[in-house]
Amino acid sequence: MHVDDTISADQALRLINRGTNLYWKGDYHNAKQLLSALARRLPTNRTAPFKAQRRAQAERTRILNALLIPLTNHQVPLRRAPDVSAACAEAYGPPTGNRWVPLRELLGVIGAHQLRLRGVHVPALGDRIHPHYTVFAPTRSEYADLVAEHPLPPGARTAFDIGTGTGVLAAILARRGIPRVLATDNNPRAVECARENLHRLRLTAEVLHTDLFPPGRADLIVCNPPWIPAKPLTPLDHAVYDENSRMLRDFLRTAREHLQPRGEVWLILSDLAEHLGLRTGHELLTLIHTGGLRVAGQQDVTPRHGRARTGETTTLWKLQGF
Ligand SMILES: C[S@@+](CC[C@H](N)C(=O)[O-])C[C@H]1O[C@@H](n2cnc3c(N)ncnc32)[C@H](O)[C@@H]1O
Repeated sequence: MHVDDTISADQALRLINRGTNLYWKGDYHNAKQLLSALARRLPTNRTAPFKAQRRAQAERTRILNALLIPLTNHQVPLRRAPDVSAACAEAYGPPTGNRWVPLRELLGVIGAHQLRLRGVHVPALGDRIHPHYTVFAPTRSEYADLVAEHPLPPGARTAFDIGTGTGVLAAILARRGIPRVLATDNNPRAVECARENLHRLRLTAEVLHTDLFPPGRADLIVCNPPWIPAKPLTPLDHAVYDENSRMLRDFLRTAREHLQPRGEVWLILSDLAEHLGLRTGHELLTLIHTGGLRVAGQQDVTPRHGRARTGETTTLWKLQGF
């Protein structure tokens, strides 16, 4: 149903709860205010059990995504609308005429565009990394510090960065002087993003679009897999949520086949999943041993990020074949 500035948030919520999508015809800023008013009516409970929180999050997403605004060739034909053409081109590709998009999604697209322009300062690189839409942004810098500081395997000549995202860890490995760095990701947006970042930093590393490993063997294999074993709900979730720990399991099951005889695997993982009751420390060690690997060392760091849980630890697990 078409709605405009005259609708109240309570009326809007009632309509959405009856299954009606709201097609906005009014002022762009008023649409944003309505979205905020709807969001305030859907409180989040950060102390509820994880599964209940995810269910509430999915419901919240469904409700807020029911407020749609028009997009005509990547322009919003509404009063006081900003120019969103560059942001939309980055997220959606070339314009395709008229469509309706959830305002909430569009705000995410605009936010991602601004983050891409501004970049994220990564202290371990002394430089900025520019994330693309849906690509994991290295805003928690402590895990990058671990990769920048941990002693390299003696004489390491080849390193793999599995699930490279923005390419941040590949960039650190190349900066540390490893002559051949190969990075992979199964998200084409990440592949493009990593290539762009490495090019901008004038670092040489090859980036391949593939599932897990590139061909060949490496002296060092680094992997920072998605940390939360739960179903992704949106395209933005894929870098953080990994249903049934699929990537982690497949990585640990096969990493040894891609490792030089005295090579090292550096697995970067937070114990957030353990705090949420989604995985135990014992399960992780079992996966490591089942893959023919042993723990040869570990370096822990406490996340400094504002959203980190009390007691959360990020670990670089140094693994070797046995
Ligand atoms: C937590 S992000 C880490 C990104 C980056 N390495 C970093 O540390 O900032 C995990 C990355 O793994 C990628 N990924 C997930 N499953 C994968 C797979 N099977 N093969 C390759 N990459 C994968 C995701 O697309 C995402 O970019």
